[in-house]
Amino acid sequence: MIKRKCVSFSIDGELQKKFEEYVLSEKYKTKSKAITDIIRNEIVRKEYIEGKEVVGVITIVYDHHKKDLQDKITDVQHEHHYMILSTLHIHLDESNCLEVIVVRGKGKEIDGLRGNLKSINGVKHCSMNITTKGKDV
Ligand code: NI
Repeated sequence: MIKRKCVSFSIDGELQKKFEEYVLSEKYKTKSKAITDIIRNEIVRKEYIEGKEVVGVITIVYDHHKKDLQDKITDVQHEHHYMILSTLHIHLDESNCLEVIVVRGKGKEIDGLRGNLKSINGVKHCSMNITTKGKDV
């Protein structure tokens, strides 16, 4: 287990004021938790950019009535099978499907999958969220 250590640093008054407002608006009970989250977010972002292994979710919404669309989406996912951990399919209404694809891989590879899905005609929306693997950061 990693020991928590006390660190101190100084920031200018205006930035400190903004940070205090941020802590309140995000409902943090402690500034330590807020700072820890900010640091972790930045490390995850940097790891993603540098092409290190990250985990994340890609979310797509599409109309399953559109001809061949479901097959195209499945084909793209099979091409990237090695990085897909799981998928969740929800029938939003009579036409629209929402799919959540949980991925693990290098930033560039995950971004390639995201781009391949997003660019398929009929995919109405595609978003991606990268998060920490939980172990190192
Ligand atoms: Ni569906």
